[in-house]
Amino acid sequence: MPLAVTEARSLLAAYPLAPVVATVGSHSALDIADGAASEGLGTLVLAEAGRDAPYARYFRTTNGPPGFPRRGCVDEVWTYPKFLSLAAPAEQERLRRKGALLVPNRAFSSYVPLATIEDDFRVPIVGSRALLRIEERSERENYYTLLERAGIPTPHRVPGPEAIDRLAIVKLPHATRRLERGFFTAASPSEFRTKSERLIARGTIAAEDLAGARIEEYVLGPVFNFNFFFSPLVPRADGLELLGVDERRESDLDGLVRLPAAQQLELSESARIPVYTVVGHGTVTVRESILEEVFRLGEKFVDAARARYPPGILGPFCLQTCLDRDGHATVFDVAARIGGGTNVHLALGHPYGNALWRTPMSTGRRIAVEIRRAAAEGRLPEIVT
Ligand SMILES: Nc1ncnc2c1ncn2[C@@H]1O[C@H](COP(=O)(O)OP(=O)(O)O)[C@@H](O)[C@H]1O
Ligand SMILES: [Mg+2]
Repeated sequence: MPLAVTEARSLLAAYPLAPVVATVGSHSALDIADGAASEGLGTLVLAEAGRDAPYARYFRTTNGPPGFPRRGCVDEVWTYPKFLSLAAPAEQERLRRKGALLVPNRAFSSYVPLATIEDDFRVPIVGSRALLRIEERSERENYYTLLERAGIPTPHRVPGPEAIDRLAIVKLPHATRRLERGFFTAASPSEFRTKSERLIARGTIAAEDLAGARIEEYVLGPVFNFNFFFSPLVPRADGLELLGVDERRESDLDGLVRLPAAQQLELSESARIPVYTVVGHGTVTVRESILEEVFRLGEKFVDAARARYPPGILGPFCLQTCLDRDGHATVFDVAARIGGGTNVHLALGHPYGNALWRTPMSTGRRIAVEIRRAAAEGRLPEIVT
């Protein structure tokens, strides 16, 4: 039985005035911690053994000698053998005693089962826990469904390999590293067959995952990931903000395309099929005349999410888009929480967020500003579920 929003919000009653910002040690934890530290809030990272050094050592908060700056932005690190352990009832109790507000990122919803988050995770989450499930393409109702409800353009869906009649992208998980991608492109049924056989032989994908793969039109154009923020603390008309835009660095795709075509053709057939592992992020702005449409998409998404999954979006979300040759956006992925590329705006902010707030405003810092304001006005229940 999903945890009622009211129950999640009632957990706040026992919380201290100054909540602690907690997040899972991966994905965008540094942006979240840096933002909270900039706003004077305590920070707690829930890390996994063997991958906690950035938090427990390199960005750990340490006070300098009198008159010298403080270093780092991670006040405390709780390291678990496995991320999943953070959801144990005793750990939830510990988080509540700490006054921790959990800021969800992709690591949280990947390592803690969605059913646990929805039904049993009795720690206030800054954002909408009910929306995390739409990110799963395997769900019957997922982000594509919501985008269509919102009237937001999505790539044309190709019903099956035999129906491929244009350049398409096939989306399925990696065979063994399940959080990674086993994506490939195909422009015909025969190319689909050839490439899928090669990728199965290479161990990149598993045959049994092909049946559930999403096949969609490949949109030719650069990718822009629009990092929005929606605040329920202000009048609806003022709620939407565009904080920044990022693009991802994907390996080995970006390495392949940096090779001249003639050299690419010298590679083996298999090596010419790229892998889309996200390894980094870049920052971008969009042609100014396109911003009107970008805001319209954001507003439509907020309204559709509110109608279908009340209370809807609370805080950050990311619309991942391709802009075609006419400058029109097609949204191929959604994050209903802080996007995966916001680290590129960590501490610096992005021209859009900075222009709006007249100060460096990353997504991490904007989340912290929202928490601080809600706490000051006794409105924390309005930003958590
Ligand atoms: N329909 C599409 N057309 C063109 N490129 C796409 C399309 N869908 C995805 N991509 C490319 O694949 C990458 C990953 O796709 P995405 O759907 O965001 O996967 P994930 O859910 O793993 O983040 C994108 O960053 C983009 O470069
Ligand atoms: Mg994506």
